[in-house]
Amino acid sequence: MTTLTAELIAQIYEDAEGELSNAEIYEKARKLAGLSAEDMQLQREFGVKKVKTSEIKHKIRWFQQTLKHAGIIEKVSGVRGVWQLARLTDKGLREPRANVCVVGFSTELGVGIFGDARQVFGSVRDEPITLCFSSPPYLLRNARAYGAGAESEAAYVEFIVRTLEPIVKNLVRGGSIVLNLTQDAFVPGRPSRSLYLERLILALADDLGLELMDRLVWVNRAKAPGPTQWACKKRVQLGVSYEPVIWLTSDAMHVRSDNRRVLVPHTEAHQKLIDAGGELRTTSYGDGAHRLKAGSFSAQTEGAIAKNTLIRGNLCPDTLFCHKVASELGLPRHGATSPTWLASFFIEFLTKPGELVVDHFSGYFKTAIAAERLGRRWIGTDKVLEWIAVASHMFRGHPGFEQTPLIDSLIDSYQK
Ligand SMILES: C[S@@+](CC[C@H](N)C(=O)[O-])C[C@H]1O[C@@H](n2cnc3c(N)ncnc32)[C@H](O)[C@@H]1O
Repeated sequence: MTTLTAELIAQIYEDAEGELSNAEIYEKARKLAGLSAEDMQLQREFGVKKVKTSEIKHKIRWFQQTLKHAGIIEKVSGVRGVWQLARLTDKGLREPRANVCVVGFSTELGVGIFGDARQVFGSVRDEPITLCFSSPPYLLRNARAYGAGAESEAAYVEFIVRTLEPIVKNLVRGGSIVLNLTQDAFVPGRPSRSLYLERLILALADDLGLELMDRLVWVNRAKAPGPTQWACKKRVQLGVSYEPVIWLTSDAMHVRSDNRRVLVPHTEAHQKLIDAGGELRTTSYGDGAHRLKAGSFSAQTEGAIAKNTLIRGNLCPDTLFCHKVASELGLPRHGATSPTWLASFFIEFLTKPGELVVDHFSGYFKTAIAAERLGRRWIGTDKVLEWIAVASHMFRGHPGFEQTPLIDSLIDSYQK
């Protein structure tokens, strides 16, 4: 028996002379996959409405839809026996062929797409985006398997700006773009830092018309010691311990943020002050910039305003879960993930439930899972099918979960 795969359906189209009806497709697929007529009748419930339909026919229709959406069915003619949608990179990962974008998995709230970020968001229309939260591939000197290239500063800035362009076009007024980037990019052969971050912020403002709201700092004291050459060997640099997170908006005067959604507990000392009836002094300091009067800070508030330094590690149960799934399936592990809490913080701060959050460099889909848990709609893309296959496991059991059988084909190919 042959497994029912996307290639098999593509092959049926390729071999067909002229149009094929659904009944003809089902019959050809049944014979090629060695299934019985009874197998074709086995029913399962699908979707929220729990419509009962043949599981195999449903799978075939999913392949058809996927292949059509990817423009494969129309294009297969003359190309035989190749994995139509993806190509193998020199790192051994599956990346989409030109123009291919395919739904990898979806829930009632969102959709994870296998495709190039620019291509996917270039075709997303009439979907107003409230937040794009992303950790793009970092500017590195050596290319890595997780998708970071070794580009020049200018090429890197151009890449980030061009991938954001279609997203910014769909951003609501006052919507936000938040990027978790690296500080640890150095001028080749020198201990001085690259200015790519400054150039990127300028390009985002000049080319895309965004306004800079903040450069937040994510302090992660557990970061590995480095930069090796300059801190550990030559000893001229200090050890790295933070990453910048830049926050921009399409319109600062109408920005959708609300710090009341991310209040933090009062410190013990501040709570004591509130309990004691607030300040006893009446004074001013900082050249009159700050005035205190007796009774200031006496009101009990729900919490303190969060600071723009986020102090927390990279340890994340979702990353551990995904790594475990990858090991069990024999798939590679993603080498550069960020913690879900970081995405959750910005989603709560910058959006309301029901609004659309996107991440065009999804990796293990942390932004997506954070959005899903917080009741926001989401769209995520990644150009590596392996990451999508692994991440899909976090969404199983969420309302409306479905995944493309392409993921099964991929896993099969790893297990052979
Ligand atoms: C730093 S990782 C993101 C990690 C993610 N935040 C997580 O926690 O798993 C960057 C991701 O961008 C993806 N990527 C790079 N270039 C891309 C492109 N042109 N289109 C879509 N995804 C891309 C890579 O495959 C990689 O998974």
